[in-house]
Amino acid sequence: ETIFVLNGPNLNLLGTREPEIYGHETLDDIAGQLEDRSRELGLSIDLRQSNHEGHLIDWLHEAQALPAKAVLLNAGAYTHTSIALYDAIKAIRTPVIEVHLSNPHAREAFRHVSRISPVAHGTICGFGAFSYMLALEAAARL
Ligand code: DQA
Repeated sequence: ETIFVLNGPNLNLLGTREPEIYGHETLDDIAGQLEDRSRELGLSIDLRQSNHEGHLIDWLHEAQALPAKAVLLNAGAYTHTSIALYDAIKAIRTPVIEVHLSNPHAREAFRHVSRISPVAHGTICGFGAFSYMLALEAAARL
């Protein structure tokens, strides 16, 4: 079974992007950690990143068509703006776990609203790269 790990805008810059907020690990580092753990769990992961909203939507549809067991979604700033992502998550039966490295609730007011949370199976935020690992553990138990 496959778990999609979908990453939105600017997450390709992880490691160098505001490391005091997002840490020093790159998306490749995170992919490596998730691959190791998913092997132990008898799962495989398919990690992707795009700076384009429509790619994330296409991949959510693909997750349902495959079907993937679950989607871990860090939508970056689209979290706070995208009704199209809200609709896409609502349109599929695949469980989507919202993931953030930082804790958006402890940051600027415009990050306090998530368009995704109301349709996510659950949300994990605030644990840096380890948020992804926690989300993988949760997805494995769905
Ligand atoms: C983020 C939080 C968002 O508010 C921000 O726009 C990001 C990253 C996180 O992982 O902490 O790009 O999703």
